Amino acid sequence: MKFKKNILCIGAGYVGGPTMAMIAYKCPQYKVTVVDINNERIDQWNSDDLPVYEPGLDEIVKEARGRNLFFTPDIERGIKEAEIIFVSVNTPVKEFGAGAGMAADLQYWEKTARQIRDVSDSYKIIVEKSTLPVKTAQAMERILTSDSSGVRFDILSNPEFLAEGTAIKDLEYPDRVLIGSRYTQSGLKARDELMEIYANWVPDERIITSNIWSSELSKLVANAFLAQRISSINSFTALCEKSGADITEVARAVGTDSRLGPKFLNASVGFGGSCFKKDILNLVYLCKHYGLEEIADYWESVIRINDYQMGRFVLTMLGAMFNTLAGKRLCLFGFAFKANTGDTRESPAIHISKRLMEEKVELVITDPKAMNNAMKDLDGIEGNVSYVEDPYEASANCDAIAVVTEWGLYADLDFKRIYESMVKPAFIFDGRNILDHEGLFEIGFNVFPVGKPPLTHFK
Ligand code: UDX
Ligand code: UDX
Repeated sequence: MKFKKNILCIGAGYVGGPTMAMIAYKCPQYKVTVVDINNERIDQWNSDDLPVYEPGLDEIVKEARGRNLFFTPDIERGIKEAEIIFVSVNTPVKEFGAGAGMAADLQYWEKTARQIRDVSDSYKIIVEKSTLPVKTAQAMERILTSDSSGVRFDILSNPEFLAEGTAIKDLEYPDRVLIGSRYTQSGLKARDELMEIYANWVPDERIITSNIWSSELSKLVANAFLAQRISSINSFTALCEKSGADITEVARAVGTDSRLGPKFLNASVGFGGSCFKKDILNLVYLCKHYGLEEIADYWESVIRINDYQMGRFVLTMLGAMFNTLAGKRLCLFGFAFKANTGDTRESPAIHISKRLMEEKVELVITDPKAMNNAMKDLDGIEGNVSYVEDPYEASANCDAIAVVTEWGLYADLDFKRIYESMVKPAFIFDGRNILDHEGLFEIGFNVFPVGKPPLTHFK
């Protein structure tokens, strides 16, 4: 079959894989090839056991794979054949040198740009899919046009707003698709080509355009606002616990204001995930670079509150359990950074586990999807930790349970049975407010929600 165009994606991760699967699924007239330096990942994408868990992903991959969706390790050939190249390699926080701990590490990006330049022998549209600091597209342009081959490139910024666990829904029904381009004739033509792809399933009014730098910045700003909202609601949890207010009631009352809206107001142990912290640190670095210290400090406080919230959760456990956790068995319900994903990047569970192990807790970890990642995250850390898939078995003989991830299955467990198998007094710390606190209290638990006064049997 002759395809209309060849699309390539470099980077078969959480973003590249599902995004390309959706494009291939919705646009059978385009050939979509996904490459990655990690051959094992490519093999997984070609197997029945995909490397990314997302509800609905298996179905669309099955439909498109082999038809117009291909996963291959041959990066050079992929680049040569492609007319449109999405770059979706990871951009971790830099761990060395200037900007260490804050700036984005762009080495993969730059390497990819050079590879594209060296291999290409025809015009290509390059699409930034990775979240990048403002002005990366410009650096990319400079690299791509830095040799004398005369091959032309146009660069577009097309940030991905999908959230893990709902990636397929977010890709299929996006709030918006944002495409940033240069306002040159060629830049606008490239933009139109990308718009044409999305127009196969996204309504026109949801495809918005801007200049490249606005597009790059918008992604960082969107994540900063979302994270700020969580830190804002979390900042009131301690006050609720002390004053007798209930954070869920407060969130409901506040969220009914149509200017504020009800979403993203769930108090928690803190936010995690690969984006929020990284993107804010990136913004902070950018502001500092431009000498905007006050703005940097304002956004950095979103992370400070998040760190405080994770630490506070551990201190609540310590305080509730008579100021010593040493030798006590504590079961973490959930390790993923949120429900419906096996991803544990920047998960609050990592921070909380490490702190608990410093307190010499015997830790038992259970999670329906993230056990392998949990083992990797805690590998080499001194302490007593075990991994048990079944939550009943995991919590048996424990002094306490701490809910860290909001998996729906935890709300449906038989807590009477769990209570009977635990050491008394038994404690539950619900870091996500997903359990029936009154019911647990009646069973006999001492219950510590976030942002609500505790329910205890102590006089
Ligand atoms: C995404 C976005 O692309 C990133 O900008 C965002 O900030 C975090 O989320 P994600 O897809 O989640 O990244 O990252 P990951 O799952 O680590 O996937 C990146 C893939 O790129 C990996 O499979 C890695 O092997 C691949 N890669 C990396 C390359 O193919 N080439 C490289 O040079 C570097
Ligand atoms: C986020 C953005 O939502 C998405 O648009 C962007 O493309 C990537 O970053 P993601 O990190 O996958 O997506 O998950 P998200 O649902 O935003 O949750 C992030 C963290 O915030 C999780 O740890 C989650 O549990 C926490 N959270 C979210 C809360 O604590 N309370 C809330 O009300 C919502």
